[in-house]
Amino acid sequence: MGTSRIPGFYNKTLAERLAQTASSADLTAPELSAWETGGLTPESADPMIENVVGLHALPLGIGLNFVVNGREVLVPMAVEEPSVVAGASFMAKLARAGGGFHATTTDPLMIGQMQVINVINLHEAKLKIYEKKAELLAEADSIDPILKKFGGGARDLEVRILEDSPIGGFLVVHLIYDVRDAMGANAVNTACERLAPRIEVITGGKVHLRILSNLADRRIARARCTIPVSELEMGRGDPAGRPYSGEEVRDGIIAAYAFAAADPYRAATHNKGIMNGVDAVVLATGNDWRAIEAGAHAYAARSGRYTSLSTWNKDADGNLVGTLEMPMAVGIIGGATKVHPAAKAAVKLMGVKTASELAEIIVSVGLAQNMAALRALATEGIQRGHMSLHARQVAIAAGASGELIEKVAAQMVSEKTVRIDRAEEILKNL
Ligand code: MEV
Repeated sequence: MGTSRIPGFYNKTLAERLAQTASSADLTAPELSAWETGGLTPESADPMIENVVGLHALPLGIGLNFVVNGREVLVPMAVEEPSVVAGASFMAKLARAGGGFHATTTDPLMIGQMQVINVINLHEAKLKIYEKKAELLAEADSIDPILKKFGGGARDLEVRILEDSPIGGFLVVHLIYDVRDAMGANAVNTACERLAPRIEVITGGKVHLRILSNLADRRIARARCTIPVSELEMGRGDPAGRPYSGEEVRDGIIAAYAFAAADPYRAATHNKGIMNGVDAVVLATGNDWRAIEAGAHAYAARSGRYTSLSTWNKDADGNLVGTLEMPMAVGIIGGATKVHPAAKAAVKLMGVKTASELAEIIVSVGLAQNMAALRALATEGIQRGHMSLHARQVAIAAGASGELIEKVAAQMVSEKTVRIDRAEEILKNL
């Protein structure tokens, strides 16, 4: 992989963009055609879910300029919302001036839950489970020899007493399972189902639910970036034409973050902005975006008050520093990641060899996306950015191509008239 910094990428034709992306990851012809066609046919989709009648496509774009842990990476993003790919790419460009994104992950530990009801003495039963912990872990460990071979398996067992529930008290047993490069739901659910009869014998109760928790707070991905304050200067300014100094933009972003940190109504939207980037990569790689969404929002509420997943502050030199920390239960083996040809090509493009590497890229994209939204909101507002993308689409619809797209779009934006009839007129005059 060469550089992820490709000036003028958006001005190239679709075929040129595809060819350039493909060459940087040695994608084969079938991998390329998976992206061109969406990767599935109705026939190949048929066994994936029930009652299949067809396919539903999304645009796939490339997030540019990303450097994650010193490595250049082109990021595949499947998303229908304009400005998401452009916003992430632009912020990644600012971040690369400060060394890019620094990201880490914990071990890929997932939690499986077993709900034990009808227990006569909860405290006694809890300790009895702990007495058999080694045995239970050994049994859970033996369930998936492949996972074990790759270094995964059962790691720990924890027992909680939930006293106040609508049905009274019960026990919850957490099985902590290292799922390595899998998303892990299948391995964990199987292990919980397998352990349940033993838990029933030990406690004298009944194991009711046996299922993975999407609050994957043992499987965390973290990213940080530093944006030199000079990079934040905005010559173009707000709709009234006022330019912004780097310090003003930085402080505006910090104040915008403070709003989300203090108010759940704002935090929900702030975190949605993060998920615009996160979900786009999760989707492009065939991962379970509902699991990621559930984990993110539950984690954001872990203190008892829903708050921002990210932080934005300044460092001793006055540069802007962003951090993001969230659960990231993504895999690169199993599920759609392995059977969906477009998802396989997306994983190959990023050159990731482990699920942790993928998680590190995704959390970096989430941070970039968050900053894109905050920068726009703290300065010109988000409509201007949306408007220019919309204007490009209208220009194309009016028949513009190549350099004319930008010219027609720019004129419509400056006139604040983004309409197909105006685009046609401008095109005629050009
Ligand atoms: C829109 O999809 C996302 C934003 O609302 C995020 C935010 O407000 O931070 C712009």
